Amino acid sequence: MSSVAPAEGQQGMAALPSEALAGTVRVPGDKSISHRALMLAALSVGESRIEGLLEGEDVLNTAAAMRALGAEVEKDPATGVWHVWGRGVGGLQEPADLLDFGNSGTGVRLAMGVLAGQPIHAILSGDASLRGRPMARIMMPLGQMGVRFQARAGGRLPMAMQGPDVLLPIEYKLPVASAQVKSAILLAGLAAPGETRVIEPQPTRDHSERMLRHFGANVAVEALSSGGRRIALVGQPELSGSGVTVPADPSSAAFPIVAALLLPGSDLRLSEVCMNPHRSGLITTLQEMGADIAIENLREEGGEPMADLRVRGSRLHGVEVPPDRAPSMIDEYPILAVAAACAKGITVMQGLGELRVKESDRLAAVAKGLAACGVAVEEGKDSLTVQGTGGRPPGGNSTAIETELDHRIAMSFLVMGLACERPVLIDDAAPIATSFPGFVGMMTGLGAKLGKP
Ligand code: S3P
Repeated sequence: MSSVAPAEGQQGMAALPSEALAGTVRVPGDKSISHRALMLAALSVGESRIEGLLEGEDVLNTAAAMRALGAEVEKDPATGVWHVWGRGVGGLQEPADLLDFGNSGTGVRLAMGVLAGQPIHAILSGDASLRGRPMARIMMPLGQMGVRFQARAGGRLPMAMQGPDVLLPIEYKLPVASAQVKSAILLAGLAAPGETRVIEPQPTRDHSERMLRHFGANVAVEALSSGGRRIALVGQPELSGSGVTVPADPSSAAFPIVAALLLPGSDLRLSEVCMNPHRSGLITTLQEMGADIAIENLREEGGEPMADLRVRGSRLHGVEVPPDRAPSMIDEYPILAVAAACAKGITVMQGLGELRVKESDRLAAVAKGLAACGVAVEEGKDSLTVQGTGGRPPGGNSTAIETELDHRIAMSFLVMGLACERPVLIDDAAPIATSFPGFVGMMTGLGAKLGKP
């Protein structure tokens, strides 16, 4: 197979047409919950124990940032449990150097909320992808609370920020449905006197609300007649170190799930997958497409619902995905588009404007990648229409798909290659380590053919 030489530092990879997948796996811990656990533990008094923490680069950067702010953060190598000794709300220290959040929008945006509540100066940055992403959506509400920022043009990293001596509580209506913005305001509100309120136009993942309560904060949630929610947090609580069990990440599980569905005869079991209803939109959508996904042992652990899943190879058909489902599957559209490419008939996805400001412009990256694999696709301003092939799509050519420092684009097109007639090459598999360390080993262990191009 010929390929274009990868640029320096890139790890090109090939996915070859594969047969049925089989086995039982537990994908790594949930990324959203892992970031929040480290940050809330750092803002608590006493020791927190975190089991099942995602040890991906994004979360390890958050751990390093919390350490730089004075929290003690250690992994017990014997048990794999992470222990954090926090410094209390408002008790973090000024970092001696720049805080580098690598590829992680969640890491930097939530940390901005944490830093807002400390009367200290900090400089924040990240990799080329993160330095291109909009931060004004966080600077706006935190600025109203009294934080001062200096950022690059367009509200881009690197930026400097200075928390005020007294933070003001605000009521803020989110212009976009974003759990990151909501969470940053709530984390900042911990240090403000009185009540901080966030109104979200559509419900988004509520891991912050659940975990704030778990650490001892008073959080009230009111459903609004508009379909949105108002979240009110009472400021200046004493948070106490707590135990957190991190369930498996549904956004990572999405890749083996779709791979198993697309490869006839597959029988895959996934354990302890987080089933928070604000994260399970992909499973609902795949079931509407005809997917055989059984949800077993639904239970609650550490304040989050989780279940074991059994996935069997299925014949999928195209669907219209309602735009109001976007917040519950916002990170899953790239892999859904791969499922849609193999399904019979047309799939229409709408309300996808936010995909343009993720680790890459995911709408453009998915449309370009699918077209390169011989799939008819139409990219709208905030929509994607995929003409399913109803079988194996043609697949790649000798040009590698550009993954643009985006882990989910990389994994989506590797899954695509398993289900195509010809192999699919990607230019760089390295970003996969930000969210799903061990992805390649886990997939090959299930029977997927992945390897060096
Ligand atoms: C996340 C929220 C989402 C999601 C991201 C994780 C979180 O981002 O895309 O991967 O943990 O709060 P937005 O808040 O920008 O939608």
